[in-house]
This record gives sequence, structure tokens and C-alpha cells, in this order.
Amino acid sequence: MTLSFLAILFFSYFASTNHACHQIEKSSLMSFFLTLSSPPLNWTSMTNCCYWEGITCNQDGWVTRLHLPSKGLKGGIHPSLGNLTHLTHLNLSHNSLHCPTSKEIEFFLPLNRLEILDLSYNLLSGELPLSLPSNIQIVDLSTNHFHGVVPSSFFQQARNLTSFNVSNNTFSGPIPSFICPHSSPLIKLLDFSYNKFSGNISRGLGECSTLQVFRAGNNNLSGLLPEDIYNATTLQEIVLPVNLLHGTISDRIVNLTNLAILNLYYNQLSGVLPFHIGKLSKLKLILLHFNYLEGSLPPTLMNCTNLIELHIGDNNLEGDISALNFSKLGQLSKLDLWSNNFTGTIPMSLYSCKYLKAIRLSLNDLEGQIQPEIISLKSLSFLSLSGNKWTNITGAMKILMRCESLVYITFSYSFIGEEIPADDGLVGFDGFKNLRILSLCGCELTGQIPLWFSKLKKLEILNLDLNRFTGSIPSWLGTLPRLFYINLGSNFISGEFPKQLCRLAMLLSDPTAAQVDHNYLELPIFIRLRDNVKALQYNYLFYFPPSIYLYNNSISGNVPTEIGQLRLLHKLDLSFNNFSGSIPDQISNLKDLDALDLSLNHLTGKIPDSLKSLNFLSYLNVSYNDLEGPIPRSTQLQSFNASAFEGNQKLCGAPLPNECGLVNGSDADNKNSQDVDDEHHIPWFFISFVSGFIVGFWGVCGSLILKTAWRYRYFQFLDNVQDRLYVMRIMCMTMMRRRLRT
Ligand SMILES: *[C@@H]1O[C@H](CO)[C@@H](O)[C@H](O)[C@H]1NC(C)=O
Ligand SMILES: *[C@@H]1O[C@H](CO)[C@@H](O)[C@H](O)[C@H]1NC(C)=O
Ligand SMILES: *[C@@H]1O[C@H](CO)[C@@H](O)[C@H](O)[C@H]1NC(C)=O
Ligand SMILES: *[C@@H]1O[C@H](CO)[C@@H](O)[C@H](O)[C@H]1NC(C)=O
Ligand SMILES: *[C@@H]1O[C@H](CO)[C@@H](O)[C@H](O)[C@H]1NC(C)=O
Ligand SMILES: *[C@@H]1O[C@H](CO)[C@@H](O)[C@H](O)[C@H]1NC(C)=O
Ligand SMILES: *[C@@H]1O[C@H](CO)[C@@H](O)[C@H](O)[C@H]1NC(C)=O
Ligand SMILES: *[C@@H]1O[C@H](CO)[C@@H](O)[C@H](O)[C@H]1NC(C)=O
Ligand SMILES: *[C@@H]1O[C@H](CO)[C@@H](O)[C@H](O)[C@H]1NC(C)=O
Ligand SMILES: *[C@@H]1O[C@H](CO)[C@@H](O)[C@H](O)[C@H]1NC(C)=O
Ligand SMILES: *[C@@H]1O[C@H](CO)[C@@H](O)[C@H](O)[C@H]1NC(C)=O
Ligand SMILES: *[C@@H]1O[C@H](CO)[C@@H](O)[C@H](O)[C@H]1NC(C)=O
Repeated sequence: MTLSFLAILFFSYFASTNHACHQIEKSSLMSFFLTLSSPPLNWTSMTNCCYWEGITCNQDGWVTRLHLPSKGLKGGIHPSLGNLTHLTHLNLSHNSLHCPTSKEIEFFLPLNRLEILDLSYNLLSGELPLSLPSNIQIVDLSTNHFHGVVPSSFFQQARNLTSFNVSNNTFSGPIPSFICPHSSPLIKLLDFSYNKFSGNISRGLGECSTLQVFRAGNNNLSGLLPEDIYNATTLQEIVLPVNLLHGTISDRIVNLTNLAILNLYYNQLSGVLPFHIGKLSKLKLILLHFNYLEGSLPPTLMNCTNLIELHIGDNNLEGDISALNFSKLGQLSKLDLWSNNFTGTIPMSLYSCKYLKAIRLSLNDLEGQIQPEIISLKSLSFLSLSGNKWTNITGAMKILMRCESLVYITFSYSFIGEEIPADDGLVGFDGFKNLRILSLCGCELTGQIPLWFSKLKKLEILNLDLNRFTGSIPSWLGTLPRLFYINLGSNFISGEFPKQLCRLAMLLSDPTAAQVDHNYLELPIFIRLRDNVKALQYNYLFYFPPSIYLYNNSISGNVPTEIGQLRLLHKLDLSFNNFSGSIPDQISNLKDLDALDLSLNHLTGKIPDSLKSLNFLSYLNVSYNDLEGPIPRSTQLQSFNASAFEGNQKLCGAPLPNECGLVNGSDADNKNSQDVDDEHHIPWFFISFVSGFIVGFWGVCGSLILKTAWRYRYFQFLDNVQDRLYVMRIMCMTMMRRRLRT
């Protein structure tokens, strides 16, 4: 105690004789300190402010640095900081500081010696002042709430500025491009990303002879890439994704020989890829997906020997990729060519890229078989090959099961009409040790759900809809410890709902379920429902709701009461089967359920009163069964459309138009006449199924519709078979109309 008191005395004495802090600065700092709400700083314990936490003084006792990042500071920044005229470094990043009035941000203007200003990750708002102090070198105002335009005068005096980051605010107006050579000729780094900048990027950057990083992604920028950007030969990064840029990427880009990152995804760029792109030997990342690029991949691309990621999915590219020689791309980790018009087969040279983690070639016109050489890709974890013309599923599975790192396989809309390899095809199965997602939907596969699936102990998502699987749902499915998403919809599955399926560990109220880490998607999945709506990007799979989809099969028997054990289930779709008996009361134990579809079965009895306790239910359909009695009254159940309940002759009460008490037993026997009477109410899809039109429907639209449907991934995200079929019908009609026109 005494010792530390002495120590403080000593330090104060020592400090005051050497470089005592100046009174004006001390009181300015105190003003700053006192406007903070409960500052977690011990500034008051010493008289010499040069010894306060985060403060550095020069030999004359002037404060030169204020370094208080991540100190949990809350409150407004007092303008008195503007009195610290010797300050060169000001770092208040990662706090919760705000401006009491919008003018407050001007406090740094008198700081003529300021070189570094870092106010990032705070809650500062308002507009920028007209200029920067003249000695400034680094400005980081990113991740705040600033708005307004960046004034053209802002850089004028800042001749030593090298780095300027205003990303993640709500700035608007044009990007200031006239920075060099007159204002800030030394600029190296410009980051305008995640704002609301708009308009064309005007010329100017081409004169920045030291510019290395230019980022302005996630804005509303339009027009062409500025022609003079190709003159900024020091550029290492061009990052402008998620804007509205159009036009082509000029061949002149090959002059940017330092370029390592070219990121222009989600724009409206067209034209062909620069033919000599291979001259950019430092390129590491190419992200050009979601554009309108056309033509083939330039062979010189294979000279970009430092390439780590190539993303050019969802363009209009074409050409035979078989002959491309990937053998020089020794660093390649991700190859994403999905949704183009590529033809040929997987080039053998690709298998020599031994660091490959992710391959996505889905939705192209590729063909052929999976070759055993793929096993040499020891890190391969993500393989998406859906929507091509692959053959030999047995061979593919036998080979891929030996790829030990594989986590994600989608082969949807492939191997059309083949038979799923049964167990004798996979003798001594011991593979797919890490497989978590298997999607084989829309393959029209025949056979039964094979026993070897029961050994996929890490499987989380099993997507087998739109096949021709027969037999019953295997009871061992309920023993897969990680499975939480099953889709067996639109198959020919019969038998009963196995009670064992109600023991799925991940769907019981089990605390371990919440702990599973879904952070493993090597490539994001994009979902774009309409062409003019920005695509949603999913890097994780946890958006996949725990689900059981069994719609459109021939499953009979009761809905087991044990279903009430699946407490974590979000979506249950048993529609269009032959379920009979009553709706089990236990369904109301599924407290997280948000979609329940039991329509088009033969369910009888009353709707259990307890169903109204399902607070999260946002979709319900029990139409076209044989339910009876009043619909339980609750704001929840009455909020659904009458169509959710229609087609049940003996059901009454809101939202149905018929009041209870008016229906009596005599109507119950008129089932046949009801079908006839109600025919004009029966939705289109129902008629199409019953009348066998479904065959013609598929015949007309063929695989095109499957491709389109998969492209927009409607199936995963629509809750029920009606929506899915409705979407398919719309697509089908659009296609037929287009065909008629041409
Ligand atoms: C003030 O706090 C800092 C860090 O919390 C500590 O390093 C310093 O010694 C403290 N100063 C005094 C005088 O207590
Ligand atoms: C410091 O600045 C503030 C606000 O700009 C001013 O009111 C004050 O007089 C100055 N001096 C001191 C010692 O705080
Ligand atoms: C501010 O301080 C943080 C934490 O020490 C540091 O990461 C950051 O680079 C500093 N800002 C500048 C511009 O130096
Ligand atoms: C910029 O930096 C140079 C060299 O470090 C220095 O001489 C000059 O004073 C600084 N300020 C301005 C405004 O040029
Ligand atoms: C700009 O700041 C953001 C944080 O707000 C950071 O993520 C980004 O990397 C910075 N930009 C550059 C070019 O350093
Ligand atoms: C952008 O700012 C928000 C808060 O305003 C923050 O949650 C987010 O992490 C920031 N993004 C980046 C890339 O720093
Ligand atoms: C933006 O550029 C386009 C050409 O891409 C041009 O037609 C248009 O006039 C420009 N708009 C402005 C505001 O400069
Ligand atoms: C690029 O630089 C060259 C040589 O300095 C110059 O002649 C040309 O006009 C510049 N191009 C653009 C588009 O500014
Ligand atoms: C590339 O830059 C050189 C000078 O550095 C220039 O002579 C040449 O014309 C440029 N090429 C293109 C295609 O712009
Ligand atoms: C790749 O580079 C080599 C050597 O630099 C060159 O000989 C070859 O022509 C280039 N290939 C292509 C397709 O550009
Ligand atoms: C693929 O090519 C066909 C005809 O060659 C064309 O109709 C279709 O639009 C192309 N698809 C894409 C995604 O470019
Ligand atoms: C299917 O693939 C396997 C393994 O590559 C191969 O042995 C078999 O011959 C292939 N079958 C056909 C019909 O091509």
C-alpha cells in the first residue's frame, strides 16, 4: 500500500521534472474523459497526464498519441480533443463512441500534425467535414454511421494520405476519383465498400501511381469500369462486387501485372474474358460470378500459376473444358463454374491440383463418368455436379466413397433413370466417412433406399426428392445420429411412417443438437428467386431448417403418435399420401414447427384443439382430408386462408365459410358427390396428378424445367408440395409459351 503510494509519488515527481503534461491538454483530456459515460480508465489517479493510460507525450510534454482502441469507451467525443495540437496518432477504434451533434466529427480539423486517424468500429454519425488535416496519412472511419457525400475538397490538402477506409457506412453520391495526382498522390489503399455510393466511377484513378487496393463493392455503382483504371499498374486488388457495372473487361487489364485479386461478381458485365489474362501471373483470386460473360475460357488462364480461387459461375460461358490443362495451377483450391454452358467432361488434369477443396460444375452440359483419379484430391470436401449428363452412378459412388474429406455431394438431376447402387454393388462398404450432405434429387433413380446409407454416420442432410424410389422408409434412418433434414418427396415410397424415425437424435430435445457446428461450406450457396432480386448468399447450412418432407408418395397407416418426440422439427410435410386415422394430438409438442402440411390424405376425426398452441406455425395445410368438427378457435388457426382447410366436408367454423351446427351427419355419406361438386375448387396440380397429366407435363418440359427449378433452388425453400408444383407449373407454361413464340 505505502509502497505503491510512494511509487506514484515518485513517478509524478519524475514526470513533472522531465516532461510534465501541459495544463491546457490535461484539461482538454479531462473534458473528453468526463463526457464518456462510466469511462473504464484510471486517468484521475496521476497528475501528469503523460502517464495516463493510452497517452504518449513528446519530450516537451505535448501529447502526441492517444491510443485507446477496444477500451469499451461509451459516450460522445468531446470537441476539446481538438486542443491536442501536437497529436500525431489518434486511435479510438472498436469502442461505442458517438457524436452528440453531427458537427462533432470536425474536432480533428485543427490537428495539423495528425498522421493517423482511426475511428473505425464506433457509432459515429453525421457528414464529413470539407477537408482533412494536411499531414494525414491514414484515415479509417469504417464501420460507423456516417452519411452524405464525400466532398470533392476532402482530399485537397491531404498530400501525404496513403490509406482511406470509409467502408460500411451509408455514404452516398459518387466515388471521389479525382484524388491523384494533385490531391493525394501517394494513395495506396481506398476502401469505399458497403455504402450507398452511386453513379459512374469517373476517370482519375489511373493517375494514382501508387494505388494498390481499390475496393468499392456492395454499392449502387453503375456505368462502365473507368477506362483509365488499366493505367493504374500498381493495382493489386480491384474489388467491386455487388454493383450495377456493365460493359466488358478490357484486354488492357493485362497491363495490371501486379493484380492479385479481381473481384467483380454480381454485376452486369458482358463480353468475353480477356484473352491474355494468363499474363497476370500474380492473380490469386478471380471472382466474376453472376455476370453475363460469354465465350470460352481463354487457354492462357492456365498460365495463372498462382491462382487459388476461380469463381465464374452463373454467366453465359461455353466451350469444351475437357482439353483445358489445369496441371500448372498447383495452388488451386476452389473451382466454381456452375450455371454456364460448358461442355465436355471433367478434365483429367484437374485431378493434379492437389490442394483442391471445392469443385462446383453444376448446371452445365458436361457428360461422362467420374474417374478414379479424383481420389488423389485428398482435401476435396465440396463437390457439386448437379444438372449435368453424368452416367454410372454406381461407379461414381464407389469411387467417391473413398474421398475421405468429402463433406458435401450434390449430384441432383444427374444419372437420369439409373438404379441406385444397392449393397451388393458396394461390397464391404467403408467410405464417405465425413459425408454430411447428400443430394440426389431429380435423378429419377430406381430401387430402394439402400442399406449403405445407414453407415453414413455424419449425414445431416439427405435430399432424395423427385426420384422413383420404391419400398418403404427404412427404420434405420432414425438411427443416423446427425440427420436433421430428410426429403423423400415425390417418390413411389409405400408402407407406413416408421416409428423409429421419431427417434432421430438431432430432432429430439437434445442439447447436443445446438452444438453441432455447421460452419463447413467451402463454397457459398446462392439463392436468387427472381432475376431482378439480389441473390442471397449462404456460407453456412444452418439456414436449413430441421425438416421431414415425405410429400407425394404412397405412405399409408397412421401418423404415429411418437412424432411428438421430434421437438426440434421445423417443417413437416406428409401431404399427398395415403395417411389415415386422426391427426395425433402429440403434433402440438413440436413447439418449433413453422410449416405443417397434411393435405391430400385420408385423415379423419377432429383437428386436435392443442394445435392452436403452435405459436411459430406460419404455414398450415390440412385440406382435402376427411376431417370433421369445428376448427379450434385461436387467433393462430383463424389467420390461415380457408384454402388451408378446404376439401374436408365435415369441417366447420372460421376461416371456412360454413358455420358449425349447420353441417349434420347426413352430408357425411355423400363423399362421392362431393368430389364431383368440388372439382372446380380442386387445385390444378391435383387434377394433373389424378388424371395422369403429370406424364405429359414432364414430357413437354423435360429436363429443362428440372434445370431451371434447380437453378433457382425453389424446392429447398418452398414449404410444401403445392408451392413447388405451382412454381413448376408457372415455369412450364412460360417455357411452352416461349416455344410457341419461336
Ligand atoms: C491504469 O490502467 C492500466 C491498464 O488497465 C495499467 O497498465 C496502469 O498501470 C494503470 N495505472 C495506474 C496509475 O493505476
Ligand atoms: C479546448 O477546446 C474546447 C472546444 O473546442 C474549448 O471550448 C476550450 O476552451 C479549449 N481549451 C480547453 C483548456 O479545454
Ligand atoms: C488502432 O489500434 C488497433 C488495435 O491496436 C490496431 O489494430 C489498428 O491497426 C490501429 N489503427 C491504425 C490505423 O494503426
Ligand atoms: C508529408 O510528408 C513529408 C515527408 O515525410 C513531409 O516532409 C511533409 O511535411 C508532409 N506533409 C505534407 C503536407 O506534405
Ligand atoms: C476497411 O475496414 C474494414 C472494417 O470496417 C475492413 O474489414 C477492411 O479490410 C478495411 N479495408 C482495407 C482495404 O483494409
Ligand atoms: C458493418 O457494420 C455492422 C454494424 O454497423 C457490423 O455488424 C458488421 O460486422 C460490419 N461489417 C464489416 C464487414 O465490418
Ligand atoms: C455513365 O456512363 C454511361 C456509359 O456507360 C453514360 O452513358 C452516362 O451518361 C454516364 N452517366 C453519368 C452521370 O456520367
Ligand atoms: C494511360 O496512360 C497513357 C500513358 O501515360 C496515356 O497516354 C493514356 O491516355 C492513359 N489512358 C487513359 C484512359 O487515361
Ligand atoms: C501497357 O503499358 C505499357 C507501358 O507500361 C504501354 O506501352 C502499353 O501500351 C500498355 N498496353 C496496353 C494494352 O494498354
Ligand atoms: C504460358 O506461358 C508460357 C511461358 O511463359 C508460354 O510459353 C505459353 O505460350 C503460355 N501459354 C499460353 C496458353 O498463353
Ligand atoms: C446455353 O446454350 C443454349 C443454346 O446454345 C442457349 O439457348 C442457352 O441460353 C445457353 N444457356 C446459358 C446459361 O448460357
Ligand atoms: C461404372 O464405373 C465403374 C467404376 O469406374 C466401372 O468399373 C464400370 O465399368 C462402369 N460401368 C459402366 C457401364 O461404364
